[in-house]
Amino acid sequence: MRDHPTFPVCEHKDMLRIRVLHGPNLNLLGTREQSIYGTLSLDALDSSITKLANELAVKVDLRQSNSESELVTWIQEARTGYDGIIINPAAYTHTSVAIRDAIASVGLPTVEVHLSNIHQREEFRHRSYIAGVAIGQISGLGPTGYLLALRGLHDHLTASRRQKKTAAPATSRRTVKGTR
Ligand code: DQA
Repeated sequence: MRDHPTFPVCEHKDMLRIRVLHGPNLNLLGTREQSIYGTLSLDALDSSITKLANELAVKVDLRQSNSESELVTWIQEARTGYDGIIINPAAYTHTSVAIRDAIASVGLPTVEVHLSNIHQREEFRHRSYIAGVAIGQISGLGPTGYLLALRGLHDHLTASRRQKKTAAPATSRRTVKGTR
């Protein structure tokens, strides 16, 4: 069984926490259909995500499963303890109402990633059940897509934290003045 590494080891309480989920058959990266998915293994991809996460001071939890129900459970669990999700749902992109509903239910900002350009491939891959509940989709940029997703989600979460911080004093002022 594959480990689910969480990085970096040294963390502080304000650190952004992002769960990265890889769907079915992505455990075979590096050997699987190399002309489409390239030669990088999943472990090597996870290492490059972890390296960038360390640079951005983000804690990442990386997981792969071939099981739809396990992916749904991991999305649900992320509701406590995580700020956002990056997911390559792989083949479930095109079939899974359950994964879409899980993402909508937890309400965490989610970025959908695909190594290949799904819109350039067979027609059945053009439809994503996930795109409608994701803040964005990155498709066709290979492993770089995950790194862009991490940067993008980091910026999105940082901006919404900043917004919440600046919005908070105004709310308490209104409360003190008794205008609410
Ligand atoms: C994929 C594209 C999907 O259509 C396919 O089923 C995958 C991988 C990608 O990363 O390009 O398994 O999500």
